Amino acid sequence: MNHPADVSLLAASPWWRSDPGTSLVIRGGSRLVGTYPISGAKNAVLPLMVSALLTPHLVTLHNVPASLDVAVLSNLLQRLGVGLNWSSNGRTGLSLTLCADQVHPARIDRDLVGRMRASVLLLGAVLARCGEACLPMPGGDAIGLRGIDFHVAGLRAMGAEVDITGGVIHAKAPRGLRGAEVALPLPSVGATENLLLAAVLASGRTVIRNAAREPEIADLVHCLAAMGAQIEGVNSDVLSIAGGRPLIGAVHTVLPDRIELGTVACAVAVTGGEVMLQRARADLLGAAGPALAAAGVVLENVDGGLLARRSSAGITGIDLHTRPYPGFATDLQSPVMAMLATAKGASAVTETIFEQRFRHVDELRKMGANITVHGRTAWVRGVERLTAARVTATDVRAAAALVLAGLGAKGDTILDGLDHLDRGYDRMADKLVACGAVITRSSA
Ligand code: EPU
Repeated sequence: MNHPADVSLLAASPWWRSDPGTSLVIRGGSRLVGTYPISGAKNAVLPLMVSALLTPHLVTLHNVPASLDVAVLSNLLQRLGVGLNWSSNGRTGLSLTLCADQVHPARIDRDLVGRMRASVLLLGAVLARCGEACLPMPGGDAIGLRGIDFHVAGLRAMGAEVDITGGVIHAKAPRGLRGAEVALPLPSVGATENLLLAAVLASGRTVIRNAAREPEIADLVHCLAAMGAQIEGVNSDVLSIAGGRPLIGAVHTVLPDRIELGTVACAVAVTGGEVMLQRARADLLGAAGPALAAAGVVLENVDGGLLARRSSAGITGIDLHTRPYPGFATDLQSPVMAMLATAKGASAVTETIFEQRFRHVDELRKMGANITVHGRTAWVRGVERLTAARVTATDVRAAAALVLAGLGAKGDTILDGLDHLDRGYDRMADKLVACGAVITRSSA
């Protein structure tokens, strides 16, 4: 297997490497027309990459998005001793083969863990494979409290000794993990994934109740099943895992990103035009599908994807609550709000998953949006058009929302905080430019 130099395939693309001081300049007013390839889902590929830690055999992932989070996790895995081999072809996009024939649990890089929430998944996987894991509390977007108490309680139920001192998590299971019944207080995506990863190597049966049902979890279950794991209840809120079997290698294609699909569809509704969203799947949208349709986003099933355009009635206000899947995805809340900022009529957008996920509101207001926040609800009164301003992204989805706002606004919007966009999306600006958007990177 090749080692560190392999990541250079990702690093070769200027689009994912945000140098500090680089901004995006988005000229509003161009209609979007053309084909936009939807990439593999960010929130699917990260747990899939971690799953390779569970076996000494090769795991190959196709349709890997070239995002900064993928690059950071690649580095983390390499330092743990995992061999990575990148390749690229037109049909399956980027492919990554991982070989965890050896794993060195003491080599978890603390700085890198601090950069990404998904690194908490190393806890379950490294603990299950090596009998010990030690990592700092994970970083990630500042969108709420984001505790890890469900992860820790589940691992303790499986026999792990877990101690958190000075912001560092020390977990041990010297005699191995054992299957357990775990009921999650909330259907946490990360806790479900962490416990799944641990349970496939634990001895005996683990049952996870109130499990999250996001499509990215089903994708992980499918990959683990291809590796030989026995898991029942895929797509339901009870997952039953018969653990303890040695896993083999597997080849898996990452499912398409439903958040990128919803975001770009909203962008087309704002700018007008018609875009073929290649590989997009409307069935992954859950409640966001009908909500987008009610707001005036038309998504037509066509061969190879979805055709997105604005309905002839234009964009109209809607009320929505974010909920665990199949409810309306919290990750679509900010981009949809950016679209609703210029809808006919008013909208009430209620965020129920994260405590601080309205940080894009102040930035949209700088662009002339009429939004007021009362508790967990943002009241959006549609204005005719937004006006360009200098704005800053504070998280991945806020970054996408501000790109969308800039595409519809009058004038040149300057977007700072680009690393957030590049963390979560595979060359989004590049792909929008190919559909007629006028976007440049500026280091001024
Ligand atoms: N929670 C706890 N304790 C826990 C775990 C979760 O209190 O031990 C709380 C959280 O604070 C939050 C709620 O439960 O209020 C739901 O959190 P969840 O664990 O489901 O979220 P996550 O695993 O941290 C993933 C995605 C998020 C996405 C959420 C919800 C990844 C890497 N992250 O986060 O994605 O918003 O599920 O769907 O998969 C993003 O992509 O921009 C993003 C933030």
